[in-house]
Amino acid sequence: MDPRRIAIVAVGVTAMSILAAQARPADTPRGRRAVSFNAGWKFAKGNQTGAEKADFDDSTWQAVRLPHDWAISGPFNPSENGYAGKLPWRGEGWYRKTFALDKADSGRRVYFDFDGVMAFPKVYVNGQLAGQWDYGYMSFRVDATPHVKFSGPNVIAVYVDTRNHGTRWYPGAGIYRKVTMTLCEPVHVAHWGTFVTTPSVDEQAATVRVRSTVENHRGTEAEAVAEVVLLGPAGQPVADGAKEAHIVLPPNGTGVLDQSFVITGPQRWDIVGPKLYTAKTTVRMDGKVVDVDATPFGIRTFEFTANDGFHLNGRRVQLYGVNLHHDHGPLGSAFYTRAMERQLEIMRDMGVNAIRTSHNPPAPELLDLCDRMGFVVWDEAFDKWDGTADRVRGEPPLPEYAERQLRNFVMRDRNHPCVVVWSIGNEIGAGGREGVTPERVKFMSEFVRQYDATRPVGMGCHIPGMAEQPNFDALDLTGWNYMRRYATYRQRYPDKPIIYSESASALSTRGFYELPLPNRKSEYSRQLQVNSYDLNAADWSDIPDAEFRLMKDDSFVAGELVWTGFDYLGEPTPFSREAKSSYFGIVDLCGIPKDRFYLYRSYWRPDTTTVHILPHWNWPDRVGQNVPVFVYTNGDSAELFLNGKSLGRRQKGVVPKGPADFARGKKATAGTSQAGHDPAHANDGDKDSRWCAAAEGINQWWQVDLGDVRSVRYLAIEFEREEKNYGYQIKASTDASTWQTIVSKSTSRSPRWGGPSQVFHDVDAQARYVRIEFTQLQGGVWASIRGFSVYPEKAESDYYAVTYTYRLRWNDVLCEPGELKAVAYKDGAKIGEAVMRTADPPAALRLTPDREKLKATGEDLCYVLVEAMDERETLCPLADNLVRFRIDGPADIAGVGNGNPLSLEPFQAGHRKLFYGKAMLILRTKENHSGMVNVVAESDGLAPARVTVQSESEM
Ligand code: GAL
Repeated sequence: MDPRRIAIVAVGVTAMSILAAQARPADTPRGRRAVSFNAGWKFAKGNQTGAEKADFDDSTWQAVRLPHDWAISGPFNPSENGYAGKLPWRGEGWYRKTFALDKADSGRRVYFDFDGVMAFPKVYVNGQLAGQWDYGYMSFRVDATPHVKFSGPNVIAVYVDTRNHGTRWYPGAGIYRKVTMTLCEPVHVAHWGTFVTTPSVDEQAATVRVRSTVENHRGTEAEAVAEVVLLGPAGQPVADGAKEAHIVLPPNGTGVLDQSFVITGPQRWDIVGPKLYTAKTTVRMDGKVVDVDATPFGIRTFEFTANDGFHLNGRRVQLYGVNLHHDHGPLGSAFYTRAMERQLEIMRDMGVNAIRTSHNPPAPELLDLCDRMGFVVWDEAFDKWDGTADRVRGEPPLPEYAERQLRNFVMRDRNHPCVVVWSIGNEIGAGGREGVTPERVKFMSEFVRQYDATRPVGMGCHIPGMAEQPNFDALDLTGWNYMRRYATYRQRYPDKPIIYSESASALSTRGFYELPLPNRKSEYSRQLQVNSYDLNAADWSDIPDAEFRLMKDDSFVAGELVWTGFDYLGEPTPFSREAKSSYFGIVDLCGIPKDRFYLYRSYWRPDTTTVHILPHWNWPDRVGQNVPVFVYTNGDSAELFLNGKSLGRRQKGVVPKGPADFARGKKATAGTSQAGHDPAHANDGDKDSRWCAAAEGINQWWQVDLGDVRSVRYLAIEFEREEKNYGYQIKASTDASTWQTIVSKSTSRSPRWGGPSQVFHDVDAQARYVRIEFTQLQGGVWASIRGFSVYPEKAESDYYAVTYTYRLRWNDVLCEPGELKAVAYKDGAKIGEAVMRTADPPAALRLTPDREKLKATGEDLCYVLVEAMDERETLCPLADNLVRFRIDGPADIAGVGNGNPLSLEPFQAGHRKLFYGKAMLILRTKENHSGMVNVVAESDGLAPARVTVQSESEM
């Protein structure tokens, strides 16, 4: 068939005919017009009776500009649990805006496109309900045509009610993403009505299929000519990339234009050098342009394989990914394109190539940015299918609700080349009213495929046992969260691809270090901050190094998506009551890198130099005492110097020899044992084997004979399940007849994680026999030990052996103020060095803007890093001075922050305390006001800092 022939497929009530391409008539400017509708709103909190009415008096309301999150200005409620950020997001609110339409536009369609409103928005136009939506994260369109006037003022009023919104994090409140008003002629390309696919792609040629749905809103038949033109990455028309068709649309009907093109020598969309094409659909009637719809798309091939991970354009690409929550720290959920772009720039610098939009559809600009910058995206529709999806007590019924939501979700995002997975949910348990069943997963997956069958459907899973049932059969791939939980699925479904959709829920506070080092991932500081030596993780997850190793070993997995790239508001594990924002982020709430950032960067970007020293070197109380030093580098070794003196060279992969384990391989006995789980399995050095008591209940014991009487100082035990469930006594004896109790431990409440866990005990005993007697077992556990070690001194947990593969560690540095210097090497050659100096007391502030030229759009942002420096310009790592800001020029303060998860200082203020030497000031430009913006930062006793940035009008 001649590829240039035009194909038109008729659907629904449409009757269409194919006519020969006509001569092109002259264009007129009367196509669609999409205008930002973000400026000039009024806002009031609470239910305002009659606020939907056009003549309602809103003169006392607050003037706001969208995007707007009413809750981010606080105040924080310290007594509230931190899971949703301690901010006042729950409640009702109203937005109103008066606008005029041009008489000349009379007869056109008027649409309002909302990218996200939290939650349950009802949109009134001139007092009448014009539309509503029931999922706070979903984009939706309201057709205001029947309600608007083309002379005199119109009023749009939006009612928002978050009271029934369920959440596990800070959701924000209000019209938090942009609103666009789109005016169209009665005949136009439908909303999200163009769908571009690339059915075949190779080096020589790509077939591009463009399907456009055209709507006729007139009560009479419409004849139109629709033309599709493909434009290349530089905006030039693609050879043979233009086709025209004559279509006849029935009264109030639609039609689909379906055309295929062949592009020779296609330029690929890729994570490296992404290239974007555009499909431009122009609709003409009577020789005049009535609509132009431009749809960017990319040409690429990708595949998730079962045995060799992810392939993009024919090569394997290891996914180095992060989960990103939708909030932007001090800006709350208000979405600014620049804030997102900056997040992606920071993640890109670290080596990230994949983003998971946990756990909801993102602002559409996130996908535009990922298309342009080259990230692949796991696009997620829901967390659970319950209240977090705005289903209230099981209503509306899941099939009806999900079809509607997934339609918008997929139709909006399906042209983005960055999107490579559709996720229908995260960590949904089995059964019940809202849980996973094979049928539900099937209809959800099929709703997705109805709108796009070119990408795999997946979900984030977390219960290995659910893979024993056919729960996930309908999915194309599964994501698994944490701890190799994909093992069961892998065994049962060896032909299905797997992604590690959440890894490394590791925890840290930027700038906070505490000694001695923890010896367990869940041994947290009592100071309500988490140690930045990067040895802590949530009970159910692991430190980054363990995940690096796992991804290397299990190369059938496409790669990991770390929980999370940025800190976010809410879910402040492990201090869920006290704190208001997370500790999970690789960078803090303001985007300031934590140490972990450099650990990822050093591994994910092996060819880019990273040399990073931690901790800081201001330890006035530990002079002469031990302060371990870690270096994160892409090199394979480094030499560390303290005040010019070498502390030795370390090589990656060398685990220091710890003290001897007196128990290893020694004779073990027990009260009872299950078949195959003999006493010897507890001290054979193999964590995959274990001793288990035969009978349930208490009075179960296990004992080791060390062979000789030893000075015993430290015990390390690894249980099969979470240690909180085991109560026991440990006894020591020199002769097996007289016993001394050296440890007594009871069970503790609220176990959080069922998996294996280690405990350590400092003891002081002379012993040949060491015996553990279980006194209490709860949570369905039985006596079961995977490892039992007995040491003459404190020993580092073998859990941390893996850190020596990815970091360089000097564990025994005696602290002396001055200068630490690390010189890093790769394959014998020096690749770089880093210096960490002891700072003198703070003397001055320093301001560093992320950009010096801004756009006067009212939505452009400048992130200004604020730091305290000593007289020699060394960062003061402990400074917590209060800094006040003065702004002179066309910009406002959009937010301030410092990354402290415990801080309840307001985000919207002209001042901020430094947190471990740093804070962030976020400026927002003013629309149509260009000029110099002078920023002054002052703090008592410190020299002030000044910086100037420029806000420029767009040409
Ligand atoms: C996961 C969950 C995430 C987040 C994370 C914290 O299990 O899917 O949403 O809660 O834990 O570690």
